[in-house]
Amino acid sequence: MTQSPRPVVIAGNWKMYKTIAESVDFIKALVPLVQESPSQVLLAVPFTAIKSAVDEAKGSRITIGAQNMNDASDGAFTGEIAARMLIDVGAEFVILGHSERRHLFKESNTFINRKVKRALSEGLKVILCVGETLDQLDQGKTHEVLKEQLLESLAEVSMEQMKSVTLAYEPVWAVGSDCPATPLQAQEAHHFCRDCIAKAWNPEVAEHLVIQYGGSVKPDNAKELMAQKDIDGLLVGGASLSAETFSKIVNYQD
Ligand code: PGA
Repeated sequence: MTQSPRPVVIAGNWKMYKTIAESVDFIKALVPLVQESPSQVLLAVPFTAIKSAVDEAKGSRITIGAQNMNDASDGAFTGEIAARMLIDVGAEFVILGHSERRHLFKESNTFINRKVKRALSEGLKVILCVGETLDQLDQGKTHEVLKEQLLESLAEVSMEQMKSVTLAYEPVWAVGSDCPATPLQAQEAHHFCRDCIAKAWNPEVAEHLVIQYGGSVKPDNAKELMAQKDIDGLLVGGASLSAETFSKIVNYQD
């Protein structure tokens, strides 16, 4: 079997869970459990816990990031957070275009694209989420939706900047549903996304692009998903809230 040119990247998305103390306790517990893992380990934590999480994770293999940000550099936007503020507290990446942002907060591809460009130009890495709803799946529109989300959310992102982008394919119907995509279903969507990127940028960019799968990832399905050729990592919601459970996903090869 030929070696993948891409690293394995396993990320946890805590959503609106965990105080500072809970975050620190989690990281203390996780560090020894993942130190032998060949995977890169990322945690997207609540804004309020970023600084403490960064301090606690120092010297470990865990990288801390955020779950959202505004597209402006600064300004009169009550309640919003800017990329430079995330960098200020030590965040290294940000999740953008998560389905909960797209659907609950009505974020458009155009808005997400402005955020992507802002994050990259300020020096944050980006995990961009894409994925179809159940209706779109049923109507056979998965490819159409993925292509539109990819091309619109990543418009004007340079080849150089694409090195700081990770993609997460998260079918909306699989997120928080206990109903993950099958490995073959996910592989097919990942292959399609990589092909879109190859055509819109070039095959080399596509070859090096890490594409994570997300949606009801658990310790018992991680290995089978990761065995697929175009699945390079996992974006984990619910199962990332317990250090023990999350470590089993990070250590899926054991
Ligand atoms: P889930 O969430 O693992 O709980 O399905 C995934 C996500 O929202 O990123």
